[in-house]
Amino acid sequence: MIRLQYFSQAVPTTTIRDIKEVLVSARRKNKEMDITGVLVSGGSIFLQILEGPEQSVLSLYLKILQDKRHTDVEIMRVTPIIDRLFDDWSMAFVESTPLEFQQIMEVKSAYFALGEPQEFLTAMHGLINVLRGQEKSIGASR
Ligand SMILES: Cc1cc2nc3c(=O)[nH]c(=O)nc-3n(C[C@H](O)[C@H](O)[C@H](O)COP(=O)(O)O)c2cc1C
Repeated sequence: MIRLQYFSQAVPTTTIRDIKEVLVSARRKNKEMDITGVLVSGGSIFLQILEGPEQSVLSLYLKILQDKRHTDVEIMRVTPIIDRLFDDWSMAFVESTPLEFQQIMEVKSAYFALGEPQEFLTAMHGLINVLRGQEKSIGASR
């Protein structure tokens, strides 16, 4: 399996409502493809983490890359994994308001601290804890 993380920029015409609609079908498809992860919306920035079988994650990423609802899609990292971080969610969704935008930025800066995978994991676990606290509002259990 692999874990792929990227950032992107929502186009101005894309609303949270559009994204929530995307998520409804995304969750169904992700289940079929054995993909789990999280989509974080921080203002106009998206951070998405996709985990699952390599072929499935890469082919989904290619679709997402071409999606006109966002732009400047920038891969942070792709790592081979044995265990999933987001085992419980076909695609969790977090809006920045409850999450605090800073949390997203911590994940981003942890990435840029190259050679510090532990920092990255610490930031991810912070995010997961936030998610677990909000499970009700996320409504994306597998
Ligand atoms: C920010 C963002 C995240 C997305 N995440 C997913 C996802 O996790 N799973 C998914 O199937 N589609 C996701 N999509 C939608 C895909 O880009 C694409 O529209 C969808 O897979 C349908 O493709 P298809 O009509 O070729 O099957 C996302 C789109 C955006 C803009």
